[in-house]
Amino acid sequence: MDAYTCIIAETRGRVATITLNRPEALNALNGALVRELIDAATGFDADPGIGAIVITGSAKAFAAGADIKEMAEHGYAEMLLGGPFPGWVGFERLRTPIIAAVSGFALGGGCELAMMCDIILAADTAKFGQPEITLGILPGFGGSQRLPRAIGKYKAAEMILTGRMMGAEEAERAGLVSRIVPADELLAEAAALAETIASKSLPAVIAAKDALQAAQEMPLAEGLRFERQAFAAAFATEDQKEGMRAFAEKRAPEFRHR
Ligand code: CAA
Repeated sequence: MDAYTCIIAETRGRVATITLNRPEALNALNGALVRELIDAATGFDADPGIGAIVITGSAKAFAAGADIKEMAEHGYAEMLLGGPFPGWVGFERLRTPIIAAVSGFALGGGCELAMMCDIILAADTAKFGQPEITLGILPGFGGSQRLPRAIGKYKAAEMILTGRMMGAEEAERAGLVSRIVPADELLAEAAALAETIASKSLPAVIAAKDALQAAQEMPLAEGLRFERQAFAAAFATEDQKEGMRAFAEKRAPEFRHR
C-alpha cells in the first residue's frame, strides 16, 4: 500500500476502507487528500479481490468541505486546472460500489463526496449541508446537480441558497441517506453492508451500479434501453447460471467472480 498522509487505506477480506484523516481540519478536502483518496479508490477499483469500498471520516466530521484556506487566494485558472477539482471525473467512473459512512459534519465538498458514493449510511450525529453560499461561492463538487436529484429542487434550493444544515433524520426523510444507525455502530454496519455487497457476483454488481448510474444521467427511455441490454448480458455470465441453479437446488450460490 502506498504511504498516504491524509487518508488511511486498508482492506479486510473483500472490503476496502478509506478513512479521511486530517483531524486538525475536520477532514477538509485539500488537493493532497483528494489525490490520495482518488489514488486509493482507483487502486481498489482495479483489484478484482475487492468487492466494495467504504469511505468514512471521524466521529466529528466525515468532511467539512473543500479546504477553504487552501483555495482562498486561488483564481479562475487554478480552480479549473488544479487543486482537488479535476480528479473527480475519474472517481465518478469507478465501478466498485462505494459506501459513504457519515458521522458528524458532511458539509460542502464533504456532502458532495458522500453523494458521489452509491450508498450513504448516516450516524445519528450526521449533519449535511452545502454552506458554500456563506463563503460567497456555490457548490463545486456536484452539489447543485446531485442534491436536487436526491431530495428535489425545492428542498435543495433552500439548503444551497441559505447554507442551512440538516440532521440525519431530516436527511433520511428527504431521501439523502440510505439509512441511519447509532453512531457507535456506524463502522460495523458499513462493514456488514460492504461484505454483503462483496459476497455477490462482481459482474452483476458492476452492471447494477452502472444501471443505477445511468438512471442519474439518462432520460427514462434511454435508461430503460440501457437496462434491457445489461439484463440480457447478465445471462452470458457463469454467475447467472450458478445463481439460478442454486435457487432451484435450495442452496447458497457459489459465485465464481466475487
Ligand atoms: N477548510 C479548511 N479548514 C477547515 C474547514 C474547511 N472546510 N472546516 C474546518 N476547518 C478547520 C478550522 O479552520 C479549524 O482550524 P483551526 O483549529 O486551525 O482554526 C478546525 O478545522 C476546526 O474547525 P472549527 O474550530 O471551526 O470547529 P467547530 O466545531 O467550531 O465548527 C464547522 C465546525 C461548523 C464544520 C466549521 O468548521 C465550519 O463551518 N467549517 C467550514 C464548512 C464549510 O464552509 N464548508 C464548505 C467549504 S467550500 C466547498 O466545499 C466548496 C465545494 O463545493 C467543493
